[in-house]
Amino acid sequence: MLVQTITPNTTYEFAAEVSAGLTKPGQKELPSKYLYDDVGSALFEVISHLPEYGLTRADERLLRRHAHDIVERLATPVAVAELGSGSGRKTRHILEALCRRQRTAYYPIEISPSALAMCERELSDIDSISILGFEREYLDGLLEVAAQRRSGQHLCVLFLGSTIGNFDRPAGTRFLAEVRRILQPGDSLLLGTDLEKSSAQLLAAYDDELGVTAAFNLNLLSRINRELDADFDLAQFEHVARINHEGRSVEMHLRSLSRQTVRIPAAGLSVQFLEGETIWTESSHKYSHKEVFEMARTAGFRCVVQWIDEQWPFAENLLIAE
Ligand code: AVJ
Repeated sequence: MLVQTITPNTTYEFAAEVSAGLTKPGQKELPSKYLYDDVGSALFEVISHLPEYGLTRADERLLRRHAHDIVERLATPVAVAELGSGSGRKTRHILEALCRRQRTAYYPIEISPSALAMCERELSDIDSISILGFEREYLDGLLEVAAQRRSGQHLCVLFLGSTIGNFDRPAGTRFLAEVRRILQPGDSLLLGTDLEKSSAQLLAAYDDELGVTAAFNLNLLSRINRELDADFDLAQFEHVARINHEGRSVEMHLRSLSRQTVRIPAAGLSVQFLEGETIWTESSHKYSHKEVFEMARTAGFRCVVQWIDEQWPFAENLLIAE
């Protein structure tokens, strides 16, 4: 018998995006979503436990502390979809609170198969829950979830961990507007946003002492070696975190330590690097608590409540589709 797995992100697509990013005139770049293969997802899990990186713990603290209040504000009956579930650890608080009120369908949407499997395992013991995971890009997955919706059922979308910060500001608002178009009035979006903090704090968070973030970033080159047969020499690149004051973001780059040529056969590509030249791999935008209201409004939502963590400035925002 033939067993097939349909993997949505084909090697072909990966090769095409790597090729486009590394042949861009000027600043070379790679899409940050490719940081999250099995190794990258595991490394991010470790990052979330580092003392310097308080983001995930702040997110979880807020969800734990306010789960009851959050759930009370949702129109019911409601199904929950999550964009980028990761391990599912933080989501547990919301789902447990909700499952005390009603049977709940939970749809994690995640491009990392290992993270998706971990999340399904982690949350399957909750009473009155049913879980159906989608190994999909966010909007594709959300469209499939919306297609399953029963009449009268509301949808609550979770977009936690400040993943929205990986988009630049205009693209972030456009993404929220696309989510809004898939939703119906009265549906909700629980949005986690990391807030502005000192440059010193941000640099420590994105360039930790132990070097886990460096490994997380460099793994992108290992992944290209593994999946596209490339010959990146990881010792010839270093992790860099820098503040973009104008963009109000932290950027991660990989800096070439020498003049070198890298071959990527599966992308039909040979790439030259100057000494000191960088590949831009991720941006993490930081928000003022006020601008979230504005973003929400522009995208067709109303931000009805905002919960802020005192220890690590981070906001959980409840947006209702207008
Ligand atoms: C998972 C996208 C929120 O931007 O802070 C952590 C990823 N990158 N350390 C972030 C990340 C470097 C993280 N997000």
